[in-house]
Amino acid sequence: MKHGILVTGGAGFIGSNFVLDWLGAGLGPVVNLDALTYAGNLENLASMEGNPGHTFVRGDIGDLALVQGLLEKHRPSAIVHFAAESHVDRSIVGPETFLRTNIDGTFTMLQAARKYYDGLEGAERERFRFLHVSTDEVYGTLSPTDPAFHEETPYAPNSPYAASKAASDHLVRAWLHTYGLPTIITNCSNNYGPYQFPEKLIPLMIANALAGKALPVYGDGQQVRDWLYVGDHASALRVVLANGRVGETYNVGGGNQRTNLEVVTTLCALLDELVPESKFKPHFQQVKYVTDRPGHDRRYAIDARKLEGELKWSAQESFETGLRKTVQWYLSNAEWVSNVTSGAYQQWVTKNYGDRTAVAGTAAAGTEGAR
Ligand code: NAD
Ligand code: DAU
Repeated sequence: MKHGILVTGGAGFIGSNFVLDWLGAGLGPVVNLDALTYAGNLENLASMEGNPGHTFVRGDIGDLALVQGLLEKHRPSAIVHFAAESHVDRSIVGPETFLRTNIDGTFTMLQAARKYYDGLEGAERERFRFLHVSTDEVYGTLSPTDPAFHEETPYAPNSPYAASKAASDHLVRAWLHTYGLPTIITNCSNNYGPYQFPEKLIPLMIANALAGKALPVYGDGQQVRDWLYVGDHASALRVVLANGRVGETYNVGGGNQRTNLEVVTTLCALLDELVPESKFKPHFQQVKYVTDRPGHDRRYAIDARKLEGELKWSAQESFETGLRKTVQWYLSNAEWVSNVTSGAYQQWVTKNYGDRTAVAGTAAAGTEGAR
């Protein structure tokens, strides 16, 4: 018998990819609780329309009565908690919602889960898991020679977003140790792939390049991120749910460290190749260095050996194959991009990029910065 799960934030980027993979693999029913903030989009789940295995509920993770009601009604065998405010730049401009959703919201989820778990017996109780989906940003920043983040790396969050996620991780840990809630935490590196909102580096650069707009590289573009294709994150969460040990943390990452400038360069080359008729070729000429992000973390890198060794997980996509797939997806889904980038998105672009001054001109400076 297949047991249902409650997913929060399943209309967002990673959550919707996870839900689509889960239902596609026939792993059991999903109740999907999502507030549909600017980052949540039911279009991501359009292919699930009419699927009796998918129940979508529009609601806030901070609504205790709602969450308790869903748990009692659907009796899931696990909660997979994605819902969060997730964009670092937005957390710098307005941290309040990050504290409310990421900290208070997680607190509410834990309280509801605890009450539900306390009422479970036998196999249902044995099976139940609370999987908290977190980020590598809780560990802070690395120098070029530091070893990658491992599960024992001390927490040192630097942005309001990272601090709110770190706080939520600590709450999860406390609910495990104090109340015995069977929790597991995953800390993952930068994801990319289909359905990512174009406020994040990769989809933003694709959308801007195709529209002939500036490609805003923060600072010197030498910051390093460790990229993971979103489908590989979804598969990691599946193995953690199936076989992860209660109380453990698992780091998830693809072993793909790249500077932002390398990412943008590769994206531009892919677009030159895949859109040969583009009037903006070569797309790299649109690169514009702009004022850096305050408190910008220099480097993230994940050591995923625990997950790989203990749970036999490995990423299926290399950065090259994953990025090509991603660019192709955005090219084939121009309508999705146009729908999500209308309206309020434009206000965000003005707010975040309007005051950033160009720090060193465009294309020629782009080449200089790359050296
Ligand atoms: P996202 O911003 O694309 O999606 C977040 C989803 O949560 C949206 O659908 C939104 O509507 C929903 N949501 C927000 N506030 C809510 C609330 N109060 N109640 C209910 N739903 C709410 O985020 P994402 O990039 O898919 O990230 C998902 C999770 O994974 C987050 O917890 C994030 O911290 C974590 N994570 C993300 C990455 C990454 O690279 N994107 C990497 C590691 C970890
Ligand atoms: O590491 C995991 C984290 O990765 C997740 O927890 C976050 O939810 C997710 O948003 C992501 O955070 P980053 O800040 O690393 O991602 P972002 O796509 O915003 O930026 C990636 C890098 O690109 C970062 O060094 C900032 C830079 N950047 C970003 C934007 C939007 C630019 O240079 N220009 C831009 O316009």
